[in-house]
Amino acid sequence: MKPLLDFAIRRFEVLESTNTTACELAKDGAPEGTVVLAGRQTGGRGRFGRSFFSPEGTGLYFSIILRPTAQPLYLTTAAAVAVAQAAEAVTGKPMGIKWVNDVYCNGQKVCGILTEGGFANGKLDYAVLGIGINVAPPAEGFPAELAGKAGALWDTPVAAEAVESLLNEILCRFAKSYTALEKKPFLEAYRRLSLLDGKTVELLAPDGRILEQATVEGIGDEFELLVRGSDGNPRALSSGEVSIKL
Ligand code: BTN
Repeated sequence: MKPLLDFAIRRFEVLESTNTTACELAKDGAPEGTVVLAGRQTGGRGRFGRSFFSPEGTGLYFSIILRPTAQPLYLTTAAAVAVAQAAEAVTGKPMGIKWVNDVYCNGQKVCGILTEGGFANGKLDYAVLGIGINVAPPAEGFPAELAGKAGALWDTPVAAEAVESLLNEILCRFAKSYTALEKKPFLEAYRRLSLLDGKTVELLAPDGRILEQATVEGIGDEFELLVRGSDGNPRALSSGEVSIKL
């Protein structure tokens, strides 16, 4: 039987953003499973309009073109689990997920994920799943605004083979989840990897204002963050962002 996801990797030395190129290719009809990978990005994009620092030689930056039929939120959570488990397998270090989709190692963010979609006739035509991983610390260190917050999988530069095997591990694990996306086979793994259980977090408005403090009680069946607010009432957060010191 033909696998549901056939990966074809298109490699570029430099791109503004692998997500932007992948969106253009998807609009032009590129097949599901096309992977756009760049050695560095000049305008790497993050969530909430932020930029993603993407220097040469120390990161893995790629975007996968998908044409999903299930709830697109599952793509991001499936990818976060695939990255965390692949990184654990390749480095031997424990990883964790900060809701919704940041992967952490030793209290520092090592991977960000940005999912974008394109619509045609009112329906999702394609999704682009962009993954950026700090493989090793950049030669000049992280920019001041990331210092202390961003980390890398390894402390020193690693051989290209290790990065290649990380990529393969991620793609294989993600493909497995993707073929059964609506059944969420990665939900329990996501819960185990979640770093926020029992922690007090600050709920932030999109402009960064602190709305309130809440205590995290778990992850819901739709990957909502289950919290108890400062008023003592339980709430399920399905979007937004939480800030927490790890
Ligand atoms: C975030 O942490 O806010 C998400 C960062 C996502 C970065 C990746 S790198 C590959 C792909 N191309 C982009 O421009 N962004 C994503």
